[in-house]
Amino acid sequence: MIRSNPKGIRNGSIVSHASGLSYEADLSLRRLSPRLQAFWDSRDADEELRHEFGLRLVDNWDELFALLFQLYGTRYDFFYHLEQILITAATAWLDRPEELRDLDRHRINEPDWFDSEKIVGGALYVDLFSENLGKLADSIDYFKELGLTYLHLMPLFAVRPGDNDGGYAISNYRSVDPRLGTIDDLRNLATELRKAGIVLVLDFVFNHTSDDHDWAKHAQSGDPEYQNFYYIFPDRTLPDQYERTLREIFPTVRRGNFTWHDGMQSWVWTTFNSFQWDLNYSNPSVFRAMLEEMFFISSTGIDILRLDAVAFVWKQMGTSCENLPEAHTLIQAFSRLARIATPSLLFKSEAIVHPDDVVKYISPEECQISYNPTLMALLWESLATHETRLLTRSLSHRHKLPKHTAWVNYLRCHDDIGWTFDDADAAALGINAYDHRQFLNQFYTGQFKGSFARGVPFQENLETGDMRIAGTLASLAGLEHAIEEGDENEKEMSIRRMLLLQGITLSIGGIPLLYLGEEWGMLNDYDFVKDPAKAGDTRWVHRPRMQWEFLHELNDTIASGSGSIRKRIFRSLQKLIATRKALPALAGQQMELVATGNVHLLSFIRINESYRLIVIANFTDQPQSVDGNRLRTVGLGRFFKDALTDREFGTSEDIVLDAYETLWLMRV
Ligand code: GLC
Ligand code: GLC
Repeated sequence: MIRSNPKGIRNGSIVSHASGLSYEADLSLRRLSPRLQAFWDSRDADEELRHEFGLRLVDNWDELFALLFQLYGTRYDFFYHLEQILITAATAWLDRPEELRDLDRHRINEPDWFDSEKIVGGALYVDLFSENLGKLADSIDYFKELGLTYLHLMPLFAVRPGDNDGGYAISNYRSVDPRLGTIDDLRNLATELRKAGIVLVLDFVFNHTSDDHDWAKHAQSGDPEYQNFYYIFPDRTLPDQYERTLREIFPTVRRGNFTWHDGMQSWVWTTFNSFQWDLNYSNPSVFRAMLEEMFFISSTGIDILRLDAVAFVWKQMGTSCENLPEAHTLIQAFSRLARIATPSLLFKSEAIVHPDDVVKYISPEECQISYNPTLMALLWESLATHETRLLTRSLSHRHKLPKHTAWVNYLRCHDDIGWTFDDADAAALGINAYDHRQFLNQFYTGQFKGSFARGVPFQENLETGDMRIAGTLASLAGLEHAIEEGDENEKEMSIRRMLLLQGITLSIGGIPLLYLGEEWGMLNDYDFVKDPAKAGDTRWVHRPRMQWEFLHELNDTIASGSGSIRKRIFRSLQKLIATRKALPALAGQQMELVATGNVHLLSFIRINESYRLIVIANFTDQPQSVDGNRLRTVGLGRFFKDALTDREFGTSEDIVLDAYETLWLMRV
C-alpha cells in the first residue's frame, strides 16, 4: 500500500506492523500531544470535551495516520501538515454547537440510524421551491404532509455571477448565496428541521471551486502557493499527455478537460464547466483547506454531506483520472476526521460511474451511503424494454452492501440519466451494450417508434455517439406525450408507470429519494432556454419551479383534467410513503430476488428480523401473472394481503397483476 517511504524510516519497521505504520503513528501522536494540549489551553477548553475528543482520536489515529501518510508521507513538510490537520479537527469539535455534540454522542451508539423504514428523502433547489431559506422553513408542514424525513438542498452557497452549474461553482463555502438568505438562515432552518425530525443533507463540492473563489483569485494574481491549489500548466505539454487517457464529461461545453486562462497565460484543469477549477489534492494544503470548509458546513447543522463528483478527485498521468485508489484514501481521510471531530456526520457518495466503481466508495469508513445509479438506470431500462432481465441480473450480484451502509434509491435527480450498467451483465444476456445504449437514448428522447418518453439529450457527443438523458419523471414516463395526444389511456398508463417505479425505490432496501416536483408529476419545463445562464444546459428542463397553487387542488373535487392527475399522483405517492413507513420489513438492506418465471415482472422479498414483505411489479401495459405457489415457498405462508390496497390473495391460484401494477404482499 505504501508508495514510497520518507528517508529515515526503515522498511522493516513499516511492514512489521498491522496497519503498516503503527510505530510511526504512535510516535507522531506522542510528539503532537503537547501541541494539542497547548491548543486546548489556549482556548481554555473544557476537560470533558478534551477527553471525548482524545478518546476518538486514539481510536482513529492509526488509520488516519496511515491514510495521510499514503497521500502525503513523502512531503518534506508532512509533519507540519499533520499538526495543522489535527488542530483543525480539534477546533471543529470545540466550536461545534452543543446541540450537534449531543447528536454526536447519540449517534455514536446508533451507527445505522439511517437504515430505517421511516427515512424518506426529498431533494430540491431552494430558489425554485420556495425562493429562499426563510420561506423554506415555512414549508416544513408540506414535507411532513408528504412524509419526508430527509431533505437534500441543492448547493446554496455563494456562486459566481452568470452560469454557476446549478450552484456547483462555489465562490465561498462560508456564505449563502444572498438571493437565498444568510448562514444564520441556514442554521435556523437546520434547527427547525431537526425539531421536525427531518435530516438535512447538503453538498460538499470538494472536487473543484468556482474560478472566482478566493483561492482561484490568488492563483490568478500569480501567487504560487495558490497556483498549487489547482492544476495549472504553462503550455499544452502535460495537458496533451493527460488527455490521451481522459474522458470528456461535458463535451458540449468545451472539448477536452483543460481551459485556457488569458490572465495567467496558462491551461487550467476543468473536468466540468470551464469555470469550475479542479482542486489539486496532491497538495496537502488543499486537503487541509477543504477540511476547514467541510467542518464549517457541517457546523451549520448538517447530518449528511453529499460528496460531489467523488470519482474525479485524484489525478495521475496515464490513467483515466477517475476512481483512482488515492481518491478512496482521500475520502477515507476526510471520513476519519469526521469520526474524530463531528462523529454524527455521514457521507453520501455521488459516483455516477461503472457499478463496480460505485460500490468501492461505500463502507462505514468511507461513504456510508451512496446514490444507486445502476438501479436508477436499469429501472428506466426495464420500463423501455418491458423486461426485467438486465435489472434482475444486476440486482442479483450488485445490491448487497456492507453492514452499516445503505443505498440511496432514486429515479430522477437534478442531473441527467446515464446508462452506466455493466457491459458484461448485458453480454451475459446476449445484449450488445453499445446498441442497447443507442436504443435507450432513442427511446427516451422519443425518437424510437412507439416511445412514450419525452426526454432531451444532454451532452451529446457527436464523435462517440454518446449522450445522456434529461427530463422529469413524468415526461420520461409518458405523461407529457399523453397530454399532447389527448390520450386518456396513455395518461392512465403514464401515472401507473411513475407509481410502479416509486413503489420499487420505496421498498427495495435503502433510502428512497424523490426529486421534488415528482409528487405532482411535473412535466419538462422548456422555458429554461430563455435564461442565458441556463440555456446551454438541458438539465434545467427537469428542474421546474414549484407551483404552490397545486396544493389547493388537493381539496378540490375535480373529476378530470390535469388538476385531477396531479391530485392522484400526490395522494398515491403520499400513501406509498406512509405505507412504507409502517412496514418494519422495509428497514435495512436485506433483499432477495424471487424467481417468478415471468420476464416482465420484478419480484423480491424484504426481510428484517421476523418481518417479511414480497414486492411484485409488472413492467408492461398488459396483465401479467405469477404462480402463487412460488410465493408460498419464499413467503412461508398461504395467504397474502397487498399492503397498498388491502386486496387478499391465496397461493393456490395465479396472482394476476394489472398493467404496471405493484403489489406489496404481506402474510395474513
Ligand atoms: C455533480 C453534480 C452535477 C455537477 C457536477 C459538477 O456531478 O451532481 O450537477 O454538474 O458535479 O459539479
Ligand atoms: C457525469 C459524472 C457525474 C456528473 C454528471 C453530471 O456523469 O460522472 O459525476 O454528475 O456527469 O452530468
